[in-house]
Amino acid sequence: MNSVNDPAYEVLPAHRGDSFREHVVRAYEDAPSDWQKVLGDQLHFQWGVFDHPDSPRPVSLDEAGLRHLERQLAIATGLGPEHSTPGRVLDVGCGWGATLRHLARVFPDCRRLDGINISAEQLAHCAEHVRGADRRVHLYLCDAADIAALPDAEQPYDLVVVRGTITHFPPEVYETATEALAQRMRPGALLVISETLYSEEFLADERPLPSDTDHLALGHRKSLRYVTDVLRDRGFDVRDQRVLPSAEDAARWVLELKSNIDVHFPEEASPPLEAIRSMAATLAVVLLQHEASVHSIVAERREAA
Ligand SMILES: C[S@@+](CC[C@H](N)C(=O)[O-])C[C@H]1O[C@@H](n2cnc3c(N)ncnc32)[C@H](O)[C@@H]1O
Repeated sequence: MNSVNDPAYEVLPAHRGDSFREHVVRAYEDAPSDWQKVLGDQLHFQWGVFDHPDSPRPVSLDEAGLRHLERQLAIATGLGPEHSTPGRVLDVGCGWGATLRHLARVFPDCRRLDGINISAEQLAHCAEHVRGADRRVHLYLCDAADIAALPDAEQPYDLVVVRGTITHFPPEVYETATEALAQRMRPGALLVISETLYSEEFLADERPLPSDTDHLALGHRKSLRYVTDVLRDRGFDVRDQRVLPSAEDAARWVLELKSNIDVHFPEEASPPLEAIRSMAATLAVVLLQHEASVHSIVAERREAA
């Protein structure tokens, strides 16, 4: 995996200075084994669908994270039969690889699945556990702002997933990345987004998070209107938009993370895990009061005018 001809992942140079990037990288530099104690073995890190109270038995974080991803993919593939057989897929902010692993399984005929991330720690784990098992997976240490530089532009993307990643973007990174995605996706291709977005009232009242205490790099909060306006301005039509998971499931998910941190790191955890511990209860209330919601957005690359 580490040979020059078959690197674990390729490094693409960053084209713009971004002081916030280091902040994000630090949020994910803990050992994957520590994160597994908090998130579950599979390391899904974008909320979970539990379907309480109908679930006949306890649902683990691994199952809930996968259910959330499956629900979003069902919405996307339900928009037309052509969406069930993508030829090239991109995961923007691919974490430790849980989404790519699932996409590789459910799209056996997909020729190529690319993942980008700015965290070398996460990419190394993804390379070993996902690319190691499936060479259709190609990984890039690449900022979302540099999507235009990804190789093989003559093979447009049919499906792009961006889950839990926009939350970390300064607005200019989100706008640049969306513009580049519009260039790199074929007309009719789908962009599947999951994001925690805040009400306009909440954002109007919020006090900015001082960067030295923002250990999860969540300082650039956004509204649904902003995120969807940028999509429409940059060449996408929003085909489906809904709150998913429910406020109750989202609150439960973040409280389960806190409970895992309390069990496994009772004294002290790393700064990002401490940040989850200290914000969990407040965030659960914010979710239950609908001041923030987790949104699923499926957008389609518009045909050129
Ligand atoms: C909350 S995690 C979500 C991981 C994964 N998508 C999932 O659903 O489990 C956010 C991910 O976005 C990545 N990320 C944040 N900012 C990025 C950027 N500017 N370019 C590329 N990746 C970024 C982080 O390193 C991290 O892997």
